[in-house]
Amino acid sequence: MKLDARQRAMLAEMGIWLPALPAAKTAPRPTAPPARRAPPPVQRAPKEEAPPPAPAEAPDDAARTARIALMDWDALHAEAQQCRACGLCQQRKNVAFEGGCRAAHWLIVGEAPGEQEDLQGAPFVGPAGQLLDAMLAALHLSRKSNEPDKAVYIANVLKCRPPGNRNPQPDEIARCAPFLQRQMALLAPRVILALGRFAAQSLLQTNESIGRLRGRVHDWHGTPLIVSYHPAYLLRSPHAKAHAWHDLCLALQAAKRGADGAT
Ligand code: URA
Repeated sequence: MKLDARQRAMLAEMGIWLPALPAAKTAPRPTAPPARRAPPPVQRAPKEEAPPPAPAEAPDDAARTARIALMDWDALHAEAQQCRACGLCQQRKNVAFEGGCRAAHWLIVGEAPGEQEDLQGAPFVGPAGQLLDAMLAALHLSRKSNEPDKAVYIANVLKCRPPGNRNPQPDEIARCAPFLQRQMALLAPRVILALGRFAAQSLLQTNESIGRLRGRVHDWHGTPLIVSYHPAYLLRSPHAKAHAWHDLCLALQAAKRGADGAT
């Protein structure tokens, strides 16, 4: 990828040096249903250990999931705003449902709202979000853009903040999953960037570590999915920023291949 002066300045500001890009490796495609089919249930992958199995869906949960799967954007947003399906509703200040543009070709999936996201009702608006914005800007992408190929749509696996930023619980994951599934179906992105182990493991239904998942292109029901480090981790571990930059470039290549295929 050729970088202009602005991009280089942006990356330098982020502390990223640029070794040669590795060749894109394509992960073996898991047996997945064709593109745009209903995604698998999103289950939680905790930070320190193998994820507990998602609780079996009760009949009333199944009916709710089926109802949400038919919603349009506005109905989905309204449903999330008044959601009381798990205990997180009791302490939340706001539901952080989405950020960016609903026509974007890029989908960024994070973990859960933090303090700032809870206060402002939008994902990635705290310090991690500022780093994410800088990294996206280096690719000429922005959550403020309305041009689909320059815009991003941002969503979290959980829409409400776990108190004190504790780990999400399996029942919270299970009850929130229909929202992300419907967001993904409505958006139909060209590329998905899963940030952090939680988002990656949830979407790919695996316990593999970020180290093993990143650096290659996965297949999410026909859409390329790239795993990278969570920006909050990058703030604590700046040495990993170069790897994150490689992941972004991999995602850019996948998005371009999607654009070529779409024309
Ligand atoms: N971390 C996330 O994963 N999402 C946010 O919205 C904020 C921080």
